[in-house]
Amino acid sequence: MSLIELRNISKSYKGLTLFENTSVSFEKEKIYGIIGHNGSGKSVLFKMICGFVFPDHGGIFVNGEELGKNRRFPENFGIIIDKPGYLGDKTGFENLRYLADIQNKISDEKIKETLEKVGLHYTIKQKVKDYSLGMKQKLAIAQAIMEDQEVLLLDEPFNALDVDSVENIRGLLKSLNNEGKTILLTSHNNEDIEVLCDHVFRIRNYKLEQIK
Ligand SMILES: Nc1ncnc2c1ncn2[C@@H]1O[C@H](COP(=O)(O)OP(=O)(O)O)[C@@H](O)[C@H]1O
Ligand SMILES: [Mg+2]
Repeated sequence: MSLIELRNISKSYKGLTLFENTSVSFEKEKIYGIIGHNGSGKSVLFKMICGFVFPDHGGIFVNGEELGKNRRFPENFGIIIDKPGYLGDKTGFENLRYLADIQNKISDEKIKETLEKVGLHYTIKQKVKDYSLGMKQKLAIAQAIMEDQEVLLLDEPFNALDVDSVENIRGLLKSLNNEGKTILLTSHNNEDIEVLCDHVFRIRNYKLEQIK
């Protein structure tokens, strides 16, 4: 059984049909990349996979269970979709602390360790409203990985990152994958993901085609 299966899905917005009758499966413990231009449907695809948006036709199955039937959202997913919102007057640590408290309990140590992994430990006292775009992006990555979720759905995780940070985050994702995490990520830039991913799809003419 595949970890995630999209079965004959289509999604339309005002005359625009995305992924017309597409079927694709994602297997455990692999890294998948999805490349597409702005507006090609990357974020919509991820919103469907995590149950925020439903396809008009077809179904999304996670561990064999169809989303929207007995289960609205998949379990054990760490997610970045589009631009996440933060509390500007709080520090990065405080934002993660707040998000961690909604779901489960994570220790302060775990949050600090995660901030260090993404390269934000030196900003511990800085408020998020003073963060650069790249720093906000790192905070989004920290939020997605801090709970040790089995599946990471990362929409454009390399956006706004400088070259060294891209290298660091690539290494981080590789090591999480070595620990057994399944990772799906999108990018509008081929180079960012082709070295990292086991399999790559491109969205062209609003359809998914496998290129690796
Ligand atoms: N809620 C919505 N209402 C209308 N159109 C939408 C909606 N969400 C997405 N779209 C359209 O679907 C297309 C794909 O969007 P999106 O998945 O966000 O692209 P991207 O690949 O840049 O992430 C775009 O043309 C966008 O305008
Ligand atoms: Mg997008």
